Amino acid sequence: MGCCMSKSVKIQSAQQITKRTMAAEDDFVEDVVCQDSDIKEKEMKILDLKGEGDILLIRQNGKLNAIGTKCSHYGAPLENSALGDGRVVCQWHGACFNLANGDIEDFPGLDSLPCYQVTVENNNVKVRARKSELKTNKRMKAMVKRDPNNNQHFVIIGGGPSGAICVETLRQEGFRGKITLIAKENYYPYDRVMINKAMDSEMSNIQLRKAEFYNEHDIDVKKNCEAVAVDTEEKKVELRNGSSVNYDALYIATGCEARRAPIPGK
Ligand SMILES: Cc1cc2nc3c(=O)[nH]c(=O)nc-3n(C[C@H](O)[C@H](O)[C@H](O)COP(=O)(O)OP(=O)(O)OC[C@H]3O[C@@H](n4cnc5c(N)ncnc54)[C@H](O)[C@@H]3O)c2cc1C
Ligand code: FES
Repeated sequence: MGCCMSKSVKIQSAQQITKRTMAAEDDFVEDVVCQDSDIKEKEMKILDLKGEGDILLIRQNGKLNAIGTKCSHYGAPLENSALGDGRVVCQWHGACFNLANGDIEDFPGLDSLPCYQVTVENNNVKVRARKSELKTNKRMKAMVKRDPNNNQHFVIIGGGPSGAICVETLRQEGFRGKITLIAKENYYPYDRVMINKAMDSEMSNIQLRKAEFYNEHDIDVKKNCEAVAVDTEEKKVELRNGSSVNYDALYIATGCEARRAPIPGK
């Protein structure tokens, strides 16, 4: 009886695996988007993928790549971007994306682009894409989890874009220790560039990442917290509230302030 039960369990598992594989296949769409001869060297074309969404097909040095169509920063259409060596450069504010994998290589913007599989057979250019990525048109780089046994402490002073990018790059590059972001303002990092472009912006709309993002990736954001001194011998940051934070590595990203002209008026 025990033997029969174990057999039936095995059969069920195989069925489940088949179902899961089929479901995974349903997540993708694949089709011929154009002929190989339709796209010239250094050309960028937006093409429809079976009605599920658009892809940006680019030929450089003879090789074809397909990535997302819109910049992950504020959605500029990338078919009008500049084509650099192995990258596209957004024409609005200069974000750069790698052609081979869609990774963001230069800011502004935090997220990467989806990258789709391209094959050429008998002059047919075939693209395979995850349906969800065609919809979102952006992709967050993979990040490692915090290891509670890793006591290395990386402290960042300044919650502007530089500090914000530093904390997530640490997790993307495999840092599993403790991360603390010391931010003088009482906000999570936000896109200050928008302050004088969209005067009616709500803080919730221009925040670079939501609070949940920092919680999920174990990044301790100390808002309304000002660093007043750094003791590099003791490896310690002193805070305005009288407490201090020890560090193993420190990144100072306190930006700068505009110098007011010494003339009357506002
Ligand atoms: C209104 C406005 C519009 C702009 N428009 C554009 C634009 O269109 N294009 C463009 O390229 N750039 C623009 N900029 C400039 C751009 O915002 C900056 O280049 C960018 O913010 C610099 O980022 P950062 O992280 O280095 O410094 P900052 O953004 O200055 O961030 C530094 C952070 O550190 C905090 N801090 C400072 N001292 C301490 C301390 N002792 N303890 C704790 N925290 C501290 C500050 O409160 C601040 O939040 C604009 C800036 C402003 C203000
Ligand atoms: S929209 Fe592309 S860099 Fe801003």
